Amino acid sequence: MPGNIFGKIFQLVTFGESHGPAIGGVIEGCPAGIALDLDFIQRELDRRKPGNIPGATARKETDEVRFLSGIFEGKTTGTPIAFLVGNKEPRPGDYEPLRERYRPGHADHTYDAKYGIRDHRGGGRASGRETAARVVGGALAKLFLGKEGIEITAYTSRIGPIEINGRCIDVDQEALAGSRTGCPDREKDMEMAGLLRQMEEEGDSVGGTVDCIIRGMPAGIGDPVFQKLSSVLALAVMSIGGARGVEFGSGFEAAGMKGSVHTDGLMNTGGHIVSEQNLAGGIAGGISTGEDICFRVAFKPPSSLTGMRGAISKEGIKSPAGGGRFDACIVPRVLPVVESMAALVIADHLLLNRSAKLHHE
Ligand SMILES: Cc1cc2nc3c(=O)[nH]c(=O)nc-3n(C[C@H](O)[C@H](O)[C@H](O)COP(=O)(O)O)c2cc1C
Repeated sequence: MPGNIFGKIFQLVTFGESHGPAIGGVIEGCPAGIALDLDFIQRELDRRKPGNIPGATARKETDEVRFLSGIFEGKTTGTPIAFLVGNKEPRPGDYEPLRERYRPGHADHTYDAKYGIRDHRGGGRASGRETAARVVGGALAKLFLGKEGIEITAYTSRIGPIEINGRCIDVDQEALAGSRTGCPDREKDMEMAGLLRQMEEEGDSVGGTVDCIIRGMPAGIGDPVFQKLSSVLALAVMSIGGARGVEFGSGFEAAGMKGSVHTDGLMNTGGHIVSEQNLAGGIAGGISTGEDICFRVAFKPPSSLTGMRGAISKEGIKSPAGGGRFDACIVPRVLPVVESMAALVIADHLLLNRSAKLHHE
């Protein structure tokens, strides 16, 4: 499948470059009759905007979405939903030093290697800005999932050396809404915000992790073997710029545990078969267990500034230049993007499963 399309039934194709007139997308396969909550979609986009996140890029992104099709009298019609998010502050001149250079940690060299031509302005298609279109698609998927009683929450679990205890914790939604960094632990949130300000002052950046929980999942959703639900979720989140790893449930910690500790006994809770600790993260054999799906994604420190120091010319001569505008950490801004990719996967699989069930009935 071409690289700009995601999903099998609930599909999203995105288009656009960081400094073109707009980015946008087309959602195909969204069920009809879903009320388009524009305030909700805008709030989702605002969560991704640099806004008041400490250490976020100074670039002003007024992300306002405009729907062009597939909506009638406030509801989805089941036909393709096209949308645009305008790029309000294109300052291409800022990126002139990048025209003839490749930055490490970016896709400059690889885009040239593949296509032989590239929009060098602000990372072009490889820019984090592309994720605004994912958030619109994800918001539509969330509106569909809401009707099915499924909720998705991502939060900051680590920034640099500061991390919170436990995985996929029961998030205090109020604390999360009031946080600066998307971390629901108030004390750690303050520490993380301080670190991001420090990074901004020092012109440096940090990595971190995002935890994501999918609640309200029915058992039996997903596929075995090559298209396991965990595999597709991993593909979805690893497609976000800067993602460097993903783990489900006990994840990489499982590698250091004894089987006697890791074995997760099954229980019957009111007719539902669940495990004692959900160490598998809500998926077994590629199919949902009916427990919360829980995964963690690691993001690298953005490389813009240091990247410019280590840049090289197209001819292969070391060619450092001054830095541009960049995020001190991807994590706080990427939370709605991780949720969106998870929402697209789950919406798609609910619809795929409907056809599977019909087959059995
Ligand atoms: C929301 C978001 C914002 C980002 N901001 C920056 C940034 O300011 N500077 C930077 O170097 N990388 C940033 N990135 C990461 C780059 O887009 C990404 O590392 C680059 O395109 C190379 O892709 P790769 O990391 O998948 O190899 C951001 C990513 C996302 C999702």
